This record gives sequence, C-alpha cells and structure tokens, in this order.
Amino acid sequence: MKKLVPEYIEKLEVYQAGKPIEELAREKSLTKISKLASNENPLGPSPFAIREMTNALWDVHRYPDMFAHQLKNSLAELYQLKPQNIILGNGSEGIMGYIVRAFLQPNEEVVTSESTFIGFLILAKSVGAKLIQVPRQADYKYDVKAMAKEITPNTKIVYIANPDNPTGTYITREEFDFLMKHVPSHTIVILDEAYFEFAQGQEDYPDSMTYRYDNVITLRTFSKAYGLSGIRCGYGFGHDYLIGNLHKVKLPFEPSLIAQKGAYGALKDHPHLIRTLANNRVQYHALMDFLSKVGFNPIPSVTNFITFKTGSKEKSQYLYEELLNFGVIIRPLAANLMPDHIRISLGNKEEMDHFYEAMNSVLPLYYKKFGDHK
Ligand SMILES: Cc1ncc(COP(=O)(O)O)c(C=O)c1O
Repeated sequence: MKKLVPEYIEKLEVYQAGKPIEELAREKSLTKISKLASNENPLGPSPFAIREMTNALWDVHRYPDMFAHQLKNSLAELYQLKPQNIILGNGSEGIMGYIVRAFLQPNEEVVTSESTFIGFLILAKSVGAKLIQVPRQADYKYDVKAMAKEITPNTKIVYIANPDNPTGTYITREEFDFLMKHVPSHTIVILDEAYFEFAQGQEDYPDSMTYRYDNVITLRTFSKAYGLSGIRCGYGFGHDYLIGNLHKVKLPFEPSLIAQKGAYGALKDHPHLIRTLANNRVQYHALMDFLSKVGFNPIPSVTNFITFKTGSKEKSQYLYEELLNFGVIIRPLAANLMPDHIRISLGNKEEMDHFYEAMNSVLPLYYKKFGDHK
C-alpha cells in the first residue's frame, strides 16, 4: 500500500497500558485479581463523585458545557486562580496532546530525561519533534544540570514529570529554580504534576502554584489521587497566552459531561483524598520494607508506586509472568527502556497482602533460577 504517513509516525509504537483485570481473569480463569500496574487509586472514587456522575446520566442527551464553568470555578477557588488560566482535557495526557498540536512543529526540539513518562514522548514524536533525552543521575533523579546544557535556540519544550513516572523521584525547588534560569522565554516548560497530591508534603518539592512563570504549563489530573482514571479528566494552569492558544486546538466537548461532574464531585470530598494519602503512606513503608528484606533495592518514591531493579529483562519478565499466575498484575518497564526494572503501584491492604503472598510463593523459584541476590 502507498505510504500514507510520515516516517516519524511509521516508526512509532503503540502505547502499552497495564494489563486490564478482565483480560487476566479471562486468560487464567482467575477470580481474585490485584492490579498494581497503573498507579490508580485503590480506594476507588469518592462517593461524592459517584453521586454527581450518577445524577448527570439523565442529561447525557445534551452536550457538556464546553467552558466547564462549574469545574473550572471549583479549581479556580481551590488554587486562587482565574478560570481563563485553566484548561481541562481528557486526562492530563489529553492536554499534552493540545500542547503538542498548538506549539510543537516537526524538527523542533524537546528536552527531557531518559525513560520518563512514555505518553508524552509518544505525543512529541507523533509531530516529528526531535527528542533530546538526557541520562538520569545514578540515584535515578533527573539530571537538571545536564538538561540545562541541552537547551538551544531550537528547544521548544522542556518536559518535566515531577514527580517522575516510573522512578518516583522528584526535582527539588532548588533544581527547578536552577533549570528555569537556563530556559529562554520562547521555550515552554511542561511541569507534569500527575502525582502532585502524593508529593506535596515534601518540604523541598516545588509546588508550581507558588510560581508564576509565563512559559510554564502545569498539568494535574483526577486519574491518580482522586481515583477517576476511568472518566479521563485532567487540568492545566498557565499564562493567558498559552491557555488561550490551547483552547483554539482543543476539542470543544472534552472532557465529557460525566468527567466534568465526577471531577467536580471529587474536589468536594477532601476526606477521601486524606484517606487516600494515609493508605498510600502505610503501604509505601510496608512495600519498601518488604522489597528491602527480600533483597531488592527499591528507589525511594514520593508517589503511589515504587520501582526497583531486578538486574535483567529476563528477571523482570519472569517475576511479571509468575505473579500473573497468582492474579497479581505488576509493571515490567521494558517499554520505558528500563527492562531490568519493575514498578509496583501501591494498592490497598488486601491487594498488597495478595502481592506479598504471591511474591513469597514465587521468590524461592526465582532465587533458584537466578541466584540469591541478598
Ligand atoms: C507522569 C504522568 N503524567 C501523566 C499521566 C497521564 O495521566 P492522565 O490519566 O491524566 O492522562 C500519567 C499516567 O500514568 C503519568 O504517570
């Protein structure tokens, strides 16, 4: 067939999501499944969100409010912003799509870290941009000094996932300030704060709401701490000029009515967020202890997941597949070009106990096959 797409599209690979629960249940005829693969909220959505979404079902014959007044006003109040500085989208990834569409052209450069959030890397490649992926530091953190050196007059976007997925590390206020000193005004900085709620307690975490750079777009989401991955709703903040231009390329009725209502409801339920963060803290310490005890070296994380090194792609794949037999879905990181690492999302107590039980069954054989690395 005649070539219909540019080379940069032909070279792209389809994004691989965490294995869905239904798929594993079908494949292995299992009834108990714990999905610890996509950094979702194990407590589920807030009942406030469910009530808003359920009520809205009666109105789905109508298009949603394309200006999403209700949700934008809630966000504006929460963060002391003007609604015209807010953009909503189908997940924060939807907004990344608008950013790429509005601002990024073929051969313009994007500076970011190696093996960071794949969703953005795919989007940048999909418009033929040139990706400059700077190696990480030995402690897995972004190397901001090396990133600053890569910024040229052709750099259109600097992408920072803060905290980062899949490592769970973050850049500090000092590092962010340093980087911003090297970013010219014609370069847009995307500060992807999908895991902001989990990281905000860190004293040196640079909460972007306390900065007002004209060339920074902050992205956040209802998919993680708010437990609403399935409805697709994310939000962004930025200067009028940036947000105004994003609105020109945005599909008018994203996010959907149900997504707008669910997000609006979730914002009203602060106790649910507090419960989510409390569960996360408890499970974080338990998983760090477990992984260390069984001989791995987990990367300290300020998110709702932990990544650790297995040492080889074969070991990662073995653990992944053996745990699937027990109904536990984790995330090997081959697609992130970290094939010798594995990422575990923090679940609720029941899910984590399921994981520990499965690991205790799998590890003796793992050690026998690959040697005890303790
Ligand atoms: C760093 C990062 N940014 C963005 C996203 C996408 O989130 P959303 O569901 O809001 O599109 C994810 C999801 O895993 C993520 O890890």
